[in-house]
Amino acid sequence: ALERTLSIIKPDATRRNLTGKIVAKFEEAGLRVVASKRIHLSPAQAGAFYAVHKERPFYGELVAQMSAEPVVVQVLEGEGAILKNREVMGATNPANAAEGTIRKEFALSIGENSVHGSDAPETAAQEIKFFFSDLEIVG
Ligand code: CMP
Repeated sequence: ALERTLSIIKPDATRRNLTGKIVAKFEEAGLRVVASKRIHLSPAQAGAFYAVHKERPFYGELVAQMSAEPVVVQVLEGEGAILKNREVMGATNPANAAEGTIRKEFALSIGENSVHGSDAPETAAQEIKFFFSDLEIVG
């Protein structure tokens, strides 16, 4: 089915000027950018976005890294977009990421892993709503 998923190009990637290379990988996989903006999250905003991880030992570092520098948030649309996006990203830990994936090519560590993508239809809907209004998404 035609799906939408929320993608974040993280500070480690925007800092290294990798936005275009990362978007190219999504587009080459058949995903379409139907919403996009570059924003600088406050610690409170990053903390709210990752609230599901609040009790995890890495939460503080995650929030600090995600609010340190700008991110590019996008809605990607395509057939099976949620799974397709996850395939193009590769495993969370770049040490486990397959050849050719974004995280294998660009990620620095499990925390600075260059991209975030929604993991399921329910979280995709929630995460898209967190950043975009319906008017900002143009399919
Ligand atoms: P992301 O897909 O953005 O979702 C949560 C993030 O927490 C994850 O990618 C990683 O960048 C970060 N993180 C840091 N340490 C860990 C860890 N030990 N396990 C899972 N995620 C981690």
